Amino acid sequence: MKVLVTGGAGFIGSNFIRHLFTARPGVEIVNLDKLTYAGNAENLADIEGNPRYRFARGDISDHGTVEQLFALKFDAVVHFAAETHVDRSIEDASPFLQSNILGTHCLLEAARRHPQTRFLLISTDEVYGSAPAGISFTEKSPLDPRSPYAASKAAAEHLVAAYGNTYGLSTVILRCTNNFGPFQFPEKLIPLIVANASEDKPIPVYGDGMQERDWLFVEDFCRAISLALEKAKPGSLYNVSAGATQPNLKIIRTILRHLGKSESLIQHVLDRPGHDRRYALDSSKIRRELGWAPDEVFEEGIRKTIAWYQANREWLAHARSGEYRHYYDRHYTNRSALLGK
Ligand code: NAD
Ligand code: DAU
Repeated sequence: MKVLVTGGAGFIGSNFIRHLFTARPGVEIVNLDKLTYAGNAENLADIEGNPRYRFARGDISDHGTVEQLFALKFDAVVHFAAETHVDRSIEDASPFLQSNILGTHCLLEAARRHPQTRFLLISTDEVYGSAPAGISFTEKSPLDPRSPYAASKAAAEHLVAAYGNTYGLSTVILRCTNNFGPFQFPEKLIPLIVANASEDKPIPVYGDGMQERDWLFVEDFCRAISLALEKAKPGSLYNVSAGATQPNLKIIRTILRHLGKSESLIQHVLDRPGHDRRYALDSSKIRRELGWAPDEVFEEGIRKTIAWYQANREWLAHARSGEYRHYYDRHYTNRSALLGK
């Protein structure tokens, strides 16, 4: 099997490539990644020498690059590449429209000339918007994306579904909840807490910190993707979640406890504009039809994740240098002072 992975130098993509080489040792993988601030070739340093692996640095919205790669005739495309951070999409939506919408369109245009290729889009629970208390969205729930990031992912989904319907592409869409685990870029909540708390720096909590997210350990999502690649019917759509929502403050307290740090590090700051209060998915369809279920309980997953960041301090220091430093200063400086204004 020959697979094109896009965005494989990012968090979930790099975990997925490693997972696929273990689960299917004969697989050949080409990883197309632009290496944006979030992409990091170091994430796959252990895979680099594998003769079945090839890294292609390039942009998914560049037609020439994409056409050239598709000439290799893939059995499947697993499309992760995207701008992924909600706060950055609020600051400037343009790169999100370019990569997430036009980039997806560019891949689909190439894929439609190679109808043997299965096209799997990695999407997000954010396309449903905020879930009222007690409600878990099913695949039939209406879409209501509420941030520029979420809107760009919903647009990508519509394009994928439209190309399936119009050109007969074999498409699959997975909508997943918040992932956590090794190699996550430290702009995201969990690695940000681990990094800041380890240095006794304040932990910025947006608003009251009672927003809920449904956390899934990344390895469990990788198994879901692998199963979907193998078994999902063309045109299918699956929610993927552990089904265990938790408020942000609870996650933060759990991590502080693991690190032996004081809760006095918690600092409430100005909320994210339009912040979705709650994400919650019903994932019974993928459990029933593909036999998937998460293996990792949150407490064990978070223990492994913290241990990984502690054992990979250089990786973390590198990720937090350069562009990240500018972003962090821009985004967080004065945020606590603005609270209540
Ligand atoms: P990430 O930000 O860690 O990595 C994204 C990768 O895409 C990076 O390697 C980056 O260099 C690459 N990339 C970005 N734009 C590109 C372009 N134009 N051309 C080529 N490469 C480009 O992201 P992640 O958290 O691993 O998310 C991967 C996918 O999963 C995304 O599509 C995201 O929407 C989706 N998703 C993420 C989560 C989560 O909790 N992290 C949950 C649900 C869905
Ligand atoms: O739900 C899936 C989505 O999860 C993915 O599609 C996105 O790509 C991914 O970034 C993630 O989005 P969130 O916005 O939920 O993740 P983030 O880690 O940015 O924030 C998690 C929660 O923590 C959210 O309620 C905002 C809050 N938060 C985040 C940061 C960075 C804070 O309170 N303080 C912070 O500094």
